[in-house]
Amino acid sequence: MFEDDRGSDDEHSFGGIWTLIKLEALEKYLVAFNKALSRQNFTRIYIDAFAGTGRCDITVDGEKNSVDGSARRALNANPSFDKFFFIELRSKKLAALKALVTEYPKKSIEVIQDDANTALKALCRKYRWRDERAVLFLDPFGMHVEWPTLEAIAKTGAIDVWYLFPYSGLYRQAAKNADAMDSDKEGAITRLLGTDEWRQVFYAPKRQAGLFGEDNGDVREADHRQMLDFVSKRLKGLFPAVTDPKILYQAGDSKNPSGAPLFALYFAASNPNPKAFGLATGIARDVLNAL
Ligand SMILES: C[S@@+](CC[C@H](N)C(=O)[O-])C[C@H]1O[C@@H](n2cnc3c(N)ncnc32)[C@H](O)[C@@H]1O
Repeated sequence: MFEDDRGSDDEHSFGGIWTLIKLEALEKYLVAFNKALSRQNFTRIYIDAFAGTGRCDITVDGEKNSVDGSARRALNANPSFDKFFFIELRSKKLAALKALVTEYPKKSIEVIQDDANTALKALCRKYRWRDERAVLFLDPFGMHVEWPTLEAIAKTGAIDVWYLFPYSGLYRQAAKNADAMDSDKEGAITRLLGTDEWRQVFYAPKRQAGLFGEDNGDVREADHRQMLDFVSKRLKGLFPAVTDPKILYQAGDSKNPSGAPLFALYFAASNPNPKAFGLATGIARDVLNAL
């Protein structure tokens, strides 16, 4: 059932500088989160919805390297989380994740083989979210996180989210000429953003009609920035607090990026209590500003 390991979404299996930046942000937040909550009685949960293997292969300046991935960084956070959920769809990654259960015998780890959307909605239902607080890492290769999943997460009021939003995935799918988009592509964008309003916001009728007055279809007038503004607006409408995104580029480093913008790293807090989301976003902003 889960043997679809040939998926084209392995195209970025070698990460780059953006991989290091996102992992550094996550790791710093995980430590600060556990410290901040260590004197309270909450069960602290870490959820990795696109967990991979625990290791990441990266190429930076032409050099190949392997670094600890998100799952290992979460397991090593000190103070520790009380419970870990690692969700991964691909069979070939599962063995490495299961090996972490043996490698870290004192940690309570559950490895779930499923689609992240299905597994996350089930986890949101599993707890009452009164005595639990969680950090969730959404780290898909592409446009895999569906809006109803984000709605379920926001509804818990107890999950902090780091979302590596697929910026280049969105602007590649939203073709310059609307005619070039089929219903599959349109549906994927609507699932990602939870509305089809993007069609009106991103596209307008071509200014110049065809030679014989025929309808030439719509053209995308929104540029990358405006598209991302729409994404931010959507997220801010759903979560009580959302940071401005940190844009991650193909190359360079976080201070001197170069190449195409690939991802937009967002932090969103679902706790509606101003003190709680103020603390969470304060830590997240410090982490993002220090990158
Ligand atoms: C960018 S990698 C994750 C890297 C990982 N967070 C780390 O830092 O080590 C994305 C992972 O999501 C998995 N994946 C792809 N589609 C998925 C889905 N629908 N549900 C869950 N996992 C999925 C891929 O197999 C891949 O391992």
